[in-house]
Amino acid sequence: MKLNFGMALPAVFAVSLAYAMPASAQQASPAPDSAHLDVDQLFATTCGWCHSDGGREAGKGPQLMNTARDDDFMRNRIKNGKPGAMPGFGSTFSDAQIEEIIKYIRELKPHQG
Ligand code: HEC
Repeated sequence: MKLNFGMALPAVFAVSLAYAMPASAQQASPAPDSAHLDVDQLFATTCGWCHSDGGREAGKGPQLMNTARDDDFMRNRIKNGKPGAMPGFGSTFSDAQIEEIIKYIRELKPHQG
């Protein structure tokens, strides 16, 4: 009996440690919805397949820099896409993130030099 008690104690510590770790890791990471979107990175990966050079040049999709489209049109296109042309991203990004993307497109400038 005395021996069993001595062996059970470290096991209890190990279990409580395992439960404590995910809880603290959760606190450290921000909620997905409030996560800041790195639009440069997004265009380098997801959108850049079709909107080249960060949206500065046409690819399979049109050039986005200096677009004549209004915000509503872009919001709708990014959310719903266009069948056969562009996938919809309405379930990928929050409304706030889509606003960040539109802001990025509005601020696009040609490369310096
Ligand atoms: C598979 C290719 C493809 C991908 C990936 C893609 N697009 Fe598009 N995009 C298109 C095409 C093609 C159009 C033009 C559709 C049309 O004919 O109206 C378009 C149009 C747009 C427009 C409207 C601009 C205009 O002048 O019509 C915006 C804004 C836009 N895309 C943003 C994005 C963003 C942001 C992403 C990434 C999250 C993205 N696209 C990913 C192909 C793509």
